[in-house]
Amino acid sequence: MNVSIRLMTLEDVPTVHEIDTLSFRLPWPERSFCFELTENPVSRCWVAESSGCIAAMLVLWLIVDEAHIATLATHPDFRQQGIGERLMIAALVSARNEGAARAFLEVRAGNSGAMTLYEKHGFVVAGVRPRYYKDNNEDAILMDLEDLNGLEAA
Ligand SMILES: CC(C)(COP(=O)(O)OP(=O)(O)OC[C@H]1O[C@@H](n2cnc3c(N)ncnc32)[C@H](O)[C@@H]1OP(=O)(O)O)[C@@H](O)C(=O)NCCC(=O)NCCS
Repeated sequence: MNVSIRLMTLEDVPTVHEIDTLSFRLPWPERSFCFELTENPVSRCWVAESSGCIAAMLVLWLIVDEAHIATLATHPDFRQQGIGERLMIAALVSARNEGAARAFLEVRAGNSGAMTLYEKHGFVVAGVRPRYYKDNNEDAILMDLEDLNGLEAA
């Protein structure tokens, strides 16, 4: 499948917000993506395109030598085709090229599909934030990829 990965633009935000809304019980407000693109200097926002559509989106915060995946979602019509994986790796490799040495993220304790993706690429459980998600008091699992140098392209 032909997938291209590029930086997000403001024009992408309505579609990115739609993917977010389809993917999460607590989606970000649309203005949050605008803020990430225009006002947050640590933010790196990416999309994956397939068949002329935005198929997935990712926001990463690069704080000194740490990359924090703030959000990642693939449109339901494009899932399980390797797109989220390619997007995540591209964003992390770019962060590594900017000086990131390790990566972190939080994931719902019940989100086994996402955890499988992260574990496939070396993330390990580093801790639990109890009752982190306010809609159902679900725990967040903090995951850590200690050495970004080991990350391989998909
Ligand atoms: C998690 C998510 C981003 C994965 O995106 P995707 O494009 O469907 O994932 P990929 O096709 O690239 O999957 C790559 C790997 O992840 C794992 N994976 C992805 N979805 C999975 C699922 N539903 N069940 C089990 N493993 C899964 C597999 O290891 C897969 O590799 P494989 O195909 O070699 O087995 C997507 O399911 C999604 O948007 N979910 C809703 C939002 C969300 O939970 N985001 C993560 C928040 S922390």
